[in-house]
Amino acid sequence: DEKVAKKDFLTLLDYSKEQIVHLIEEAILLEKKPLQTILQGKTLAMIFEKSSTRTRVSFEAGMLQLGGHALFLSSQDLQLGRGESIADTAKVLSSYVDAIMIRTFEHAKVEELAKYADVPVINGLTDLFHPCQALADLKTIYQLKGKFEDVKVTYLGDGNNVAHSLMIACAKVGIDFVIGCPVGYEPNSEITQSAKEIANKTGSSITITNDPKEACEYADIIYTDVWASMGQESEQQERLKAFEGFQVNEQLTTFAKKDYNFLHCLPAHRGEEVSAEVIDGPQSAVFIQAANRLHVQKALLIELLA
Ligand code: CP
Ligand code: NVA
Repeated sequence: DEKVAKKDFLTLLDYSKEQIVHLIEEAILLEKKPLQTILQGKTLAMIFEKSSTRTRVSFEAGMLQLGGHALFLSSQDLQLGRGESIADTAKVLSSYVDAIMIRTFEHAKVEELAKYADVPVINGLTDLFHPCQALADLKTIYQLKGKFEDVKVTYLGDGNNVAHSLMIACAKVGIDFVIGCPVGYEPNSEITQSAKEIANKTGSSITITNDPKEACEYADIIYTDVWASMGQESEQQERLKAFEGFQVNEQLTTFAKKDYNFLHCLPAHRGEEVSAEVIDGPQSAVFIQAANRLHVQKALLIELLA
């Protein structure tokens, strides 16, 4: 008999607007009723090749709250760190667990894991995408603004993983997305092209500018991320210089709508990409946003595993 294609969660490009909205609706219900037994007896393996606070703890707590179990696997402790192949790792883990989450560098590695695994694979951040974060971002924006239509989200900073997933997420649900970044730090052009095609269908827009003030004009949300991501530590000094003028602070936020909200995936660097006044101020919603990681990932786990 025919094998039903397993579902993975590698990028939001593979999910429809309806599927994304459904996950957010389920997350809202789970927030009200956090303890369930729907994943009783199920195990999630979590492979980490980079540090994590939110992703690790929210997946681990989320599995427990749904009656299941999560395993933290540092790539340094796995045989993967000693050269065992992704394919062999995927096949072996698939015989023990019900899903695999992975945080790594190259996105191609996650795709390879998904190809060889018989169980769903979840992207817990690559150099290209951070789809779990984007789900939490959408839920947060919905909570703050009560809608997606006619909402303008401005992302200021590096056009990489978090920006890519946020851009796709916004395009999917019909949010207008603007990215303000220095020359040379624009988002990947293929991903931007895909997002623009999606935005065309949902009636929203994707705008790229190198002017931070213009980017912030009439923004409902201002979002930023670290200037030197994990793996880019050696570029710290050069990036500090390149991103001058892109710090989200009280001068830049005056260009946004009066009732704008500030978001950041965290971890944050006060005095670099954001001022303490803004991130610790009354319009910041970063801890609501971080809490939402738990709720949306629980919805995702149920979708993939139950
Ligand atoms: N935002 C986010 O993914 O945080 P962690 O790196 O702590 O998991
Ligand atoms: N862009 C950051 C996000 C961390 C959650 C990084 O890749 O390090």
